[in-house]
Amino acid sequence: MAKTAVPNPVSMMRHNASAVPRRLRGMLSLDDFEGPARRHLPLSVFGYVSGGVEDDVTLSENRAAFRRIGLRPRVLRDVSRRDLTTQLFGQEYALPFGIAPMGFSALAAFDGDVVLAKGARATGTFAICSAASLTPLERVAADGGSRWFQSYIPGDRDRIAALLERVRRAGFDTLVVTADVPVAGNRENNARNGFDAPLKMTPQLAWQGLTHPRWVLGTLAREIAARGMPHFENMESVQGPPLFSRDLVRSKIARDELGWDHIRFIRDIWPGKLVVKGILDVADARLAADAGCDGVIVSNHGGRQLDGVVSPLAVLPEIRAALPETVVMFDSGVRRGTDVLKAIMLGADFVFVGRPFLYAAAVHGAPGVVHAANLLRDEIDRDMALLGITTPLAARDHSPVPLPG
Ligand code: FNR
Repeated sequence: MAKTAVPNPVSMMRHNASAVPRRLRGMLSLDDFEGPARRHLPLSVFGYVSGGVEDDVTLSENRAAFRRIGLRPRVLRDVSRRDLTTQLFGQEYALPFGIAPMGFSALAAFDGDVVLAKGARATGTFAICSAASLTPLERVAADGGSRWFQSYIPGDRDRIAALLERVRRAGFDTLVVTADVPVAGNRENNARNGFDAPLKMTPQLAWQGLTHPRWVLGTLAREIAARGMPHFENMESVQGPPLFSRDLVRSKIARDELGWDHIRFIRDIWPGKLVVKGILDVADARLAADAGCDGVIVSNHGGRQLDGVVSPLAVLPEIRAALPETVVMFDSGVRRGTDVLKAIMLGADFVFVGRPFLYAAAVHGAPGVVHAANLLRDEIDRDMALLGITTPLAARDHSPVPLPG
């Protein structure tokens, strides 16, 4: 595939604080976006984005795993020429991280899917368009410039083929198949907060709307005024059910019937790059490579599926070692520049971040997404200097020290 360079804003300008819009100046880290999003969003929507499953054991482990890794910097190595440029599938990106696919983004942020894609692109990286998004994938490709599509594959081959044809025609060149959702996780917080899909208007939701008028007017009503009632757009080759519905009609896609045969079938008919997301076992990583996948995303879905699952960081080194020729990517719990570098150190070629970017989009739109990406970029740049390296990949030369606890 021809190498295409995405504009590299890092080389153009390191973060210039005075260029940051005033309302964003107090946002100094990715975690700073969570508080404003919590206040801005109704509990049902905030809980859907922030939540994990059951006792949130995995959700907290995703952060704890990073804290148990100590860094061992080298000094006096002339680190004045630092460069974050990262290669992925023959493309050059300005940053070693992108934005993970997130469903319902347009419910949290006005035009959320396009805003995430545009914000990512403006900083020289990309966002993956979600199968569970409320924006037709064609518009995310055309208006947001998105080229990675994440799918929840329907159970039968004719439907898979029709969906992939639609995705290809829209211009996507990389297909991510999410494999860790054979059934929905047990998200008790959604049930407690009145969030189910399709949404049913209950007194609980109505009250949440009344107490969050800025979200109702600036996101929900604006979305409906601009594009009509949101629907599940990208589960299949045709539009799915509406977001709000009196009866809970779900589109039946028999995800629990999926097996590696389906991946091999997809490999045969999908002309672009193929990635499986949600790999945590080295045997599955090998099966993905044997099925002809170009990459895997080592991920536990941000702690949103099976509670008690290991942090992907714990299994990353053995998966990297088992797949020397395959692109190994990572997500779940990345919040700091040091987290990105630790994941790369342990074998990741590229890293994705989820929730903080959706919080940034919810409260501040595309400028928020750009600011969040710039914050993480600046942290990585600073951390590289402090570690004694000049590229993210050089983190591989470091051997981190496991810390007790
Ligand atoms: C997700 N995730 C997700 N993954 C996927 O493959 N398809 C999807 O539609 C969604 N939807 C989704 C919605 C929301 C609100 C969140 C927070 C997450 C999981 C996502 O891609 C990623 O694996 C995690 O978000 C990464 O963890 P962090 O960075 O959020 O901790």
